[in-house]
Amino acid sequence: MWAVQYHRSGGPEVLRVEEIAAPSPRNGQVLVRTLASGVSRIDALYRRGRLPHGPTFPKQTGFDAIGEVVQGRAGAIRPGDRVAVVLGLEPLRGRGTTVELLAVEPSRCGAFPAGYEPRVEDCALVLGGLTALRAVRDGLRPRRGERVLVVGAGGPVGLAAIQIARGAGAAVDAVAGSAALEECQVLGADEAYDYRGEEAAQLRASRRYDGMVVAAGRPSDWFTAVRRGGRAALTDGGAWPESVVRAVRAGVQSIPIAAGHASGDLRWLARRIAGGDLVPVVGRRYGVGEVGRAHAELGAGPTRGARIIDHRRVP
Ligand SMILES: NC(=O)c1ccc[n+]([C@@H]2O[C@H](COP(=O)([O-])OP(=O)(O)OC[C@H]3O[C@@H](n4cnc5c(N)ncnc54)[C@H](OP(=O)(O)O)[C@@H]3O)[C@@H](O)[C@H]2O)c1
Repeated sequence: MWAVQYHRSGGPEVLRVEEIAAPSPRNGQVLVRTLASGVSRIDALYRRGRLPHGPTFPKQTGFDAIGEVVQGRAGAIRPGDRVAVVLGLEPLRGRGTTVELLAVEPSRCGAFPAGYEPRVEDCALVLGGLTALRAVRDGLRPRRGERVLVVGAGGPVGLAAIQIARGAGAAVDAVAGSAALEECQVLGADEAYDYRGEEAAQLRASRRYDGMVVAAGRPSDWFTAVRRGGRAALTDGGAWPESVVRAVRAGVQSIPIAAGHASGDLRWLARRIAGGDLVPVVGRRYGVGEVGRAHAELGAGPTRGARIIDHRRVP
C-alpha cells in the first residue's frame, strides 16, 4: 500500500510517498481504507519534531481521515461502515492517516449513518469539527441568544465553530482573513470582520460577547471583546499559559481546548455532516504526491477552509 512517511524531522521536503506492507489490524482494531485526510498545524509540529513521538523512524503524517472499514470488527464498528477517524495525540507512535490502509481502534472512529457515502470534502469537518465541538459545547456552553465571537474563523476550526455555535442558538460574529469573510456569513455569522481592519481593532475592547473561540491570533489581544465573567476557548494549547494572567485581568475565564478523539463526538459530527447540518469548506485539495506542498502552504494564507488530501489521486 502507499503511505506518506518521513525518515527524519525537518521541513516539508522530508515527506515521501512510499510503498510499504499493509498493516494487520490487532485484536480490538479495524482496518480502514481511507478516502481523504486533512493537513493541520499539528502535522507540521510532529514533522518538525516539536511534539515528541518516539525516537524511531519512519513516521507517518496526518491526524484525521475518513474512509471505509474493510476488515475487523470492534466495538460497534464493522466492515462496510463509513467512518471519520481522529488519531488524537499519540506520543510514542509514528502512525499517521495519510496512508492507504489504517489499522485503528474504534475509540478513534465515528461511523456515518448507514447508507451515507462520505465525500472527500467531508474530511474538512473531522479534526476541525471535533476541535470546534469541544471549544463551543464544552468550553463556551452558549445559551440560546448569547453572543459568540469566533476569532481566526476562516480555517477548518473557525468555520465549524461558527456553525456549531449557531446551531446551539447563539448569535455569532466572526473575525477572519479577507478571503473567508463571505464564507463566514454564508455559514451563519451575522457580521464578519477582517482581522487586519479598523472595525476588528474596535471590536477588541467592545465587551460585547458572552463567549469567544480563539482559533488564531494572540488570545490576549481579544479578551476585552468578552464581557466580564464570560468565557474564551483557546484552540492553540501553546497560547494558553502565556495568556492566563491577561485573561484574569480582563475578568474572562480562558479555557484550553484539546480535540481528543472521542468516538461519541465523531459520531455526532458524522451524523450532522450526513444530515447537511454542518457544511464542509475545502480551500485547497491536493493529491497524495502533493502532501509536501500542502504542508509548505499551511499557515501561509489567505485561508478559506481546510487543506485536504484526496487519497484517490495517487502518483
Ligand atoms: N486543540 C486541538 O486539538 C487542535 C486541533 C486542530 C487545530 N488546532 C488549532 O486551532 C487553530 C486553528 O486551526 P485552523 O486549522 O482552523 O487554522 P488556519 O487554517 O490556520 O486558519 C486560521 C484563520 O485565522 C486567520 N488569522 C490569521 N492570523 C490571524 C490573527 N492575527 N487574528 C485573527 N485571525 C487570524 C487566518 O486568515 P488568513 O490565512 O487569511 O491570514 C485564517 O482565517 C490552530 O492554532 C491549530 O493549531 C487545535
